[in-house]
Formats: sequence, C-alpha cells, structure tokens
Amino acid sequence: MTYFSDMKKKVEHIKGKDEVIILGIETSCDETSAAVVRNGREVLGHKIASQIELHKKYGGVVPEIASRKHIEVINPLIDETLDQGGITLKDLDAVAVTNGPGLVGALLVGVATAKALAYGLNIPLIGVHHIEGHISANYIAHQELAPPFISLVVSGGHSHLIWVKDYGQYEILGQTLDDAAGEAYDKIARTLGLGYPGGPIIDKLAKEGDANFVEFPRPNIKEPHYNFSFSGLKTAVINYLHNLDQRGQEYRVEDIAASFQQAVVEVLVNKTIKAAEDIKAKKVVLAGGVAANSALRAQLGQSCQERGIELFYPSPLLCTDNGAMIACAGYYRLMKGDISDLALNAVPGLPLARI
Ligand code: KG4
Ligand code: ZN
Repeated sequence: MTYFSDMKKKVEHIKGKDEVIILGIETSCDETSAAVVRNGREVLGHKIASQIELHKKYGGVVPEIASRKHIEVINPLIDETLDQGGITLKDLDAVAVTNGPGLVGALLVGVATAKALAYGLNIPLIGVHHIEGHISANYIAHQELAPPFISLVVSGGHSHLIWVKDYGQYEILGQTLDDAAGEAYDKIARTLGLGYPGGPIIDKLAKEGDANFVEFPRPNIKEPHYNFSFSGLKTAVINYLHNLDQRGQEYRVEDIAASFQQAVVEVLVNKTIKAAEDIKAKKVVLAGGVAANSALRAQLGQSCQERGIELFYPSPLLCTDNGAMIACAGYYRLMKGDISDLALNAVPGLPLARI
C-alpha cells in the first residue's frame, strides 16, 4: 500500500471522530507560523514569528533572507505551538500547509516540514491555497459563519473579490490587474519614508489627516467589472509628491496618507458592494492583511449596514499570515477527502481554481 491510498482510507476514519486535531503551517512570505486547531474552528495553540524587523531596512521582503529565517525558526516554533496547546505529535490527525501562492523558497520550508511530519506520523497531508486560508480566518473569528458569501481578500500580494459558494468552492469575480492594495500601501509608505510595512503606518497617520486634501484617481470605480488596478493611483501619488518637492512646497504627510487611503478604500468598498448586490449576497467577508485597515472596516461596515448586508472580518492578528487559518482551511478540505500526496510541491503562482 502506498502512503496516499493508506491516507485516503484513514480520512474515512478521521471523518467519524468527535475531535479532529490539525497542525497548520504557514511560511509563504515573512511570517513563520504554526497552529493546532480542533474541529476546524477552535485554536488550541498558535505561534507567529514575524520577520518584519529583519526586512525593514530593505523596505520590503528579501526572499532569500525569508527562506533562511523560516528554516531556523520552524521546528522550535512547532514544538512551542504543540506545548501551548497541550498536544503531542501523536495527537495530530493531519498536517495542513500553505503550498502557494507565495515566495518559492519560503513556501518550500513549510511544505518540506509538513511532508516530513505527515510521512513520519503516517497522517494525511493537506496542501492549502493561501487565499483560502485568509478567507478561513473568518471561520475561526466567527463560529457561526458559513458560506455562501462574498469575500474581499486584500493583502500585500492579492486583491480578489471572490464569491464563496460553499466550503472550498470559489468563483473569482475580479482581481487586481497590477499592484495589490497592500503593495500600494507599502510603496507609498516607502516614498514618504515611513518604513515597512506601510499599511499600519498609513492607517494610523490617515486618522490625523484630511481625506479631501487631494482628489487622487479612483481607478476603475465606474467600470462595470470587478477588477482593481492600483498602479496608476500609486504613480499619481508619487508624481504629486515630486511636484510638491520640486516647488519646495510643504505638506502634511497625514493629509497625503488620508487622501491616498480614501481613494483605495472607496474603490474597494464600491466594488465589493456592487458584487454583493449583483449576486444578492447577504454576507460580506473581509480577509488578508489590509482587512485590518480601520477606514476600510468602517466604510464597508457603513455601506453594508445601509443595505442590510452583514459584514465579517477577523481580528488584526488573524488578518495577517498565520497558521490557524491554514489549519481551518485544511479541516474543510480533509472533511471533503481532498488530501495531498507526498509529491506536493510549492507553487509560487498557484491558482485558486477549485470550483
Ligand atoms: O496578508 P498579509 O499579512 O501578507 C500577504 O499575504 O501579503 O498582508 C500584508 C499586507 C502588507 O502590504 C501591509 O502593509 C498590509 O497588509 N496591511 C495593512 C494594514 N495592516 C497590514 N494595510 C492597510 N491598513 C492596515 N491597517
Ligand atoms: Zn497573506
């Protein structure tokens, strides 16, 4: 019997258990994270080791440094996570891991670790799509939440509007044609000399600024599709700042931050509401690092409330990359018998094509 056919049988047994415990591993970018989660929704142990301090001086994530740090951190981090949850390796029913999209070297560390554990413990291995993980963070934050809903996934690498028809059933309605929303935040912050990551810093400064100070472009806002484009907005902000500098004109960074943020948020809110109305969805779910943004939460909350739509978002901790969301997504894959074999690979551009 091969490992994979053994595991296919094992899944049937696991499905009948009252308690299913999954280890989730996430290493797709600059966070090394592991979590043990019971029955998909109850977090028993959770550790996140952020590499932000390491990458700060370069103004963004350096892939090679990220991979090396993941290797250093992953094994002790898993031990600490299990200890925190009062779990031993023998208690694990399955291992779930992000296998894409992301930085290939970073992903490989998680994938290799998960494969070794799954093989060594003779338990199922589940490859998880990173975006599916971000969406699933909401199942942990809101125990009653279930599909169908519209999800706006906005992070450093993604800006997607997705119709989640059921667990694991996704229809991508629109996505960014160039920069992701978080990427635009990070680049504007770098231009303003504010540091990395830019999102939280701009979010904070914007609270003290005038959002109507400059009317930056709202790309695609009136177009009938659901795609985003943030590259032109980014260029407009950078050109505006260069112009002011050339004229020796002073400005308040808070006003630029607030005006830029307002342009991003208006586009995101507009498209999300359009999607929810077109599909007649009653629930909207925010996910990804940018889901922590206070203006996005407030303005989308307001627009949803006016239309009788319920809005869900995770805590800031669960918005960023983490192992708990991967364990949760892995649970729902496992329950459908959708497991991986030991040939599972890191796929930097993995498509979310599991409808
Ligand atoms: O999901 P995440 O941790 O990693 C990726 O999968 O990309 O998202 C990180 C991104 C960064 O671009 C960061 O600037 C942005 O999320 N971000 C924010 C906020 N907090 C994090 N953007 C806007 N407002 C925030 N409060
Ligand atoms: Zn992410």
